[in-house]
Amino acid sequence: MNTLHNKSILITGASTGIGNHLARYLAERGYVVFAGARKESDLAELAHIDGVTPVLLDVTNPKQIQDACDLVTHMGGGLYGLVNNAGIGELGLLDAWTDEEMQHIFNVNVFGPHRVTNAFVRLLIESHGRIVNIGSQGGMITNKYYGPYTMTKHALEAYTTALNLELQPYGVWVSIVQPGGVITNIGANSFPGTLARFECTRPPFDQEARQVLESFSQPASDEPEGPESETNRKPSSPEIVSIAVYDALFSSHPRLRYLVGTRWEGNRVLNALLSRLLDENDNPQHGYSRDELVKMLDHQIAMREQSRP
Ligand SMILES: NC(=O)c1ccc[n+]([C@@H]2O[C@H](COP(=O)([O-])OP(=O)(O)OC[C@H]3O[C@@H](n4cnc5c(N)ncnc54)[C@H](OP(=O)(O)O)[C@@H]3O)[C@@H](O)[C@H]2O)c1
Repeated sequence: MNTLHNKSILITGASTGIGNHLARYLAERGYVVFAGARKESDLAELAHIDGVTPVLLDVTNPKQIQDACDLVTHMGGGLYGLVNNAGIGELGLLDAWTDEEMQHIFNVNVFGPHRVTNAFVRLLIESHGRIVNIGSQGGMITNKYYGPYTMTKHALEAYTTALNLELQPYGVWVSIVQPGGVITNIGANSFPGTLARFECTRPPFDQEARQVLESFSQPASDEPEGPESETNRKPSSPEIVSIAVYDALFSSHPRLRYLVGTRWEGNRVLNALLSRLLDENDNPQHGYSRDELVKMLDHQIAMREQSRP
């Protein structure tokens, strides 16, 4: 398996979770991996992985981004792939989010990828490389308490589409990978902020917040039995995300979007998108009939078939 490729890939947020799995996955396959992390202890851990060069990289810090770019340039191998993975979660009623908190989540999840991409885009154009943004199924659906997080992932969808259109003429393909629930540290990492937010929720939402806080104290079973549902989630291994990112990086015709997760999660996204389509159709200007909508769907499917390589 360990054949050497000279293609190098930068991954942001590689200390834990999806980014860490991906760093190992690519390094095992012989790629040169630049793995971004913020803490000295994480950088030291990453340095032990064969084929991985740790890079101090906080995506909200322009100086660290510039230094990372200088380091990659200095290594002389260029850059083939950028995976914008770093991200934060945190839940809470919208009323409980301060301006600063809202700006922070956008700063990491949206402006982070924008900043890092702009720093590395010339290297990626030189290599006719790839950019992969780690979005979320929350980029297409949302729910109460998930407002700000899903707002950032919706923004990342638009960012990816626009960036792909702008960079394709220069030989760079951009994709977004949209995981459902994945077993990582995101829950634990975001829990203190989420907890504090529910604790300081003001009237008239405080009673509802208390109920949520009570639900946090219920023990969660490690391996929930029975079919998956809203309250019985079956998170996936990070491996399914790495497999999708790999395709986006190396397939000759990468897809713009990679939905990954369980079948239940996929159904939830498709149904939400269909419901949204019906919302858009339900207006005085058009309002197509069922048959007309089916015809439009058939036309889209035919166009897609035609454009397949
Ligand atoms: N897990 C899921 O269910 C799931 C589902 C859909 C999408 N995602 C997305 O997957 C991506 C990775 O999340 P994960 O689930 O693997 O969570 P995770 O284990 O918490 O990893 C998040 C990573 O982002 C890093 N990070 C946070 N703030 C940063 C900053 N300012 N600059 C640079 N790095 C920063 C963290 O570094 P530190 O260790 O230094 O904090 C960590 O390496 C995120 O974009 C997330 O939204 C996750």
